Amino acid sequence: MERVGIALLGYGTVGSGVGRLLSESAEEIRLATGKDVYLRRVLELKPDRQALVPDGVQVTTQFADVVGDPDVQIVVELIGGIEPARDFQLASLKAGKAVVTANKQLLSQHGAELLQTAEDNGTFLRFEASAVGAVPVIKVLRESLAAAEVTNIMGIVNGTTNYILSAMAQSGAEYAPTLKKAQELGFAEADPTEDVSGKDAAAKMAILSSIAFHSRVTLADVEHEGIGGITDIDVAHGKALGLVPKLLGVAQLIDGRINARVYPCFIPAGHPLAGVSGAYNAVFLESETFDKIMLFGPGAGGTPTASAVIGDVISVVNTARGGYVRNCVCYKDLGFYPNDEVVSRFYLRVQVVDESGVLATIAGIFGDQGVSIHSMQQIGEEETAQLVLVFHPVKEAAFFRALERISALPVVRGTPSVIRMEAYDAR
Ligand SMILES: NC(=O)c1ccc[n+]([C@@H]2O[C@H](COP(=O)([O-])OP(=O)(O)OC[C@H]3O[C@@H](n4cnc5c(N)ncnc54)[C@H](OP(=O)(O)O)[C@@H]3O)[C@@H](O)[C@H]2O)c1
Repeated sequence: MERVGIALLGYGTVGSGVGRLLSESAEEIRLATGKDVYLRRVLELKPDRQALVPDGVQVTTQFADVVGDPDVQIVVELIGGIEPARDFQLASLKAGKAVVTANKQLLSQHGAELLQTAEDNGTFLRFEASAVGAVPVIKVLRESLAAAEVTNIMGIVNGTTNYILSAMAQSGAEYAPTLKKAQELGFAEADPTEDVSGKDAAAKMAILSSIAFHSRVTLADVEHEGIGGITDIDVAHGKALGLVPKLLGVAQLIDGRINARVYPCFIPAGHPLAGVSGAYNAVFLESETFDKIMLFGPGAGGTPTASAVIGDVISVVNTARGGYVRNCVCYKDLGFYPNDEVVSRFYLRVQVVDESGVLATIAGIFGDQGVSIHSMQQIGEEETAQLVLVFHPVKEAAFFRALERISALPVVRGTPSVIRMEAYDAR
């Protein structure tokens, strides 16, 4: 039986999962490919991780040993980060080897260069695990839905923030202690910045948008806002309105152009994405062709992510000879729809001095900008009152112009809380 040698770069959480699955599922992989796909080499610097590599596999600390080995046909990069991962991937592709990776930061910033290099060298670059861990969304977009025009993607694509917001909604607790608990339970990193700032989700949305809309979207094209400003007070007000907080990646085609962003927002408790709680991920796709599809599952974890990596390895082995699957599917250049022009719905909570005329002043400022209020609630305290407003859909620029004027009013206390609303049916 023909043999296919795999090299793993990095033997950490995902790398060791891939190593284990290649051995435990060897028979299934043989049946799926008709070939003996085996782990030939591991590049790993840490002695304690090297010790986990199965006997018979060559362990090295030198990338040259991997790229110079003619029996390595597929290089699986699971180091993460930009360098040296980029260098290693480019050199592997130039040597004619296929590359499989889970590296979202690299793909979302250097995807075009890497895919072109794969194309130029007649080989493959696959990255299913870079977007939503174990959930096969890239393959579905690239292959299963190739004949459909996807117009909207809404994704819960970061498990850490979904865990935190789900826990806040369930317990009513504040953000800081919930984050601390998530760290203690292993659902958030010691340095959670990449996750809670929305940057990790933005990288994944860049990758998903590029594939879905066939036009290159990079990390820099996806404006992102984190969950640090979400308070327990707003979560409670949202609950009273039948809404739950989520960090959503929202990518849409508007007038033939792309708008892709990540922000915390409220969605109705009955929406399919509202039921996606804890560290789970989900991607909700809309198209005139198929209406709605939701893909759901674990977005991270060593073994689930490794299973998506193995799926890519099998796809490469099966399409290596005779099969045709393009590397880069960005054959359009759609351009971007400006954020200011996007029509959104907003929730606003503003604390004001409780005196006559305040409501009329605020309503007047919104009216001046053509911003129409859908509902308003006043919750009195001692000398101040909380106003909770929900708006009809409005251009973002108009809303924020009005908000700037309202924030500057002497009767306004503190900073108003603004949360976008998605999939809200105002009846
Ligand atoms: N973990 C997940 O659930 C998950 C989910 C989806 C995607 N991913 C992606 O999968 C990739 C790997 O993540 P991971 O969680 O497995 O990371 P990890 O546990 O930190 O593993 C990376 C391994 O690569 C090693 N390494 C670093 N630089 C190296 C070099 N120059 N040569 C050889 N080895 C080197 C690291 O050693 P040191 O520790 O010494 O640096 C570590 O053992 C990342 O791109 C990540 O974004 C991970």
